[in-house]
Amino acid sequence: MPEPGASPFWWERDQLHYDKGHLRFAGEKVQAIARRFGTPTFVYSASRIRENLARIREALETIGRPYRLHYAMKANRFAPILTLMANEKLCGIDACAPEEVMHAMGCGFKESDISYTATAVSNSDLDTLVRFKKLHINCDAVSTLRRLGQRDPGRDIGLRINPAMGVGYGENELLHYSGNATTKFGIYREQFDEALETAAKHRLSITTLHLHTGCGYLGKQLPVWEQILTEAKTFADRIPGLKTINLGGGLGVPHTSRDTPLDLKAWAAVIKNVFGDSGLTIEIEPGDYIAKDAGLLILTANTVETRQTTRYIGVDGGFNLAVEPAFYHLPFEPVAVRLRPGAPCPVTVAGNINEALDIFAENIWLPPIQEEDALALINAGAYASSMSSNHCMRGKFREVLLF
Ligand SMILES: Cc1ncc(COP(=O)(O)O)c(C=O)c1O
Repeated sequence: MPEPGASPFWWERDQLHYDKGHLRFAGEKVQAIARRFGTPTFVYSASRIRENLARIREALETIGRPYRLHYAMKANRFAPILTLMANEKLCGIDACAPEEVMHAMGCGFKESDISYTATAVSNSDLDTLVRFKKLHINCDAVSTLRRLGQRDPGRDIGLRINPAMGVGYGENELLHYSGNATTKFGIYREQFDEALETAAKHRLSITTLHLHTGCGYLGKQLPVWEQILTEAKTFADRIPGLKTINLGGGLGVPHTSRDTPLDLKAWAAVIKNVFGDSGLTIEIEPGDYIAKDAGLLILTANTVETRQTTRYIGVDGGFNLAVEPAFYHLPFEPVAVRLRPGAPCPVTVAGNINEALDIFAENIWLPPIQEEDALALINAGAYASSMSSNHCMRGKFREVLLF
């Protein structure tokens, strides 16, 4: 239950709140954006992106080590967002495909601002990547090391390890990139010697150790995260001349009223505890934390109808535009763009794709919604537009960045 006098909407904040019954985002009425651009439309807030980056930077400062902050552009590659980041020198980039590298450079990032970490890297990927001499490449397999070494011996590189432990949103193992089950990401301890030998054979200098073990962790997961970093340190200690530890991304944002925002001071204290005396530069590459709560997906309710005992709201976008609820079972919160008078009631918000899993939220309490009302999905700034597909030929949407 919210405190007396507190907002009944857990997600309300300075730049996302109701004003006289109308949802406002980044200073604009969401209803007006829906009218101007139509729906489906993704709307992003430049000021929220800046704030999120500034908050991380402030926390990194407390570690007392040099640091680099890269944005995982797989989260959202909308060119105006990347251009803003490059122009204002807010961060570097984490890229995971040659096309991402070139897109980031097209938006104003320099080669030397980009760190590359990918999986299942092909020879043709490597042929493209080695043309970028100042691009930093982290190898996540012995095979990649060998083939990169054959093409570009003597290069400075990074090794992505798999510490066989993972962390993510709550207990959701779908968001773990390493853990009890074997995963495709990174070099395990059993292969580490082989990796070091392969690098040495091709005179590749390992300057970075990299790990990314999952997505969406919050404060409750920090003890596990600390164990993961402690394990990573044992790998780092075996690489003479190591300069940087890249701790990946994974920092989460609240998805429900039960989630507490990640305390970045506590997060930074964990890093300081494990790597404060290491002499290493700390590098991180979050995507979600920077972009997720900086975006809404605005949709229109087109079908409001009760089936048996369930009140359905059908909307003009589907899981193909925001896949996380369907793929990862991440809770997603649709909110009313206009607060109509009347008691809230439980509804199920369903998309317009002919697939049973195309449900955004089940049994969620919303104020009265009528056909043609706009709805906004919050936390749609990351892994939504960038993962969209044209399934059922319903892949069209607009994107707008508000300054
Ligand atoms: C290697 C790597 N770095 C960073 C990220 C960004 O993760 P997040 O958006 O959870 O911060 C990912 C996400 O998949 C990743 O695979």
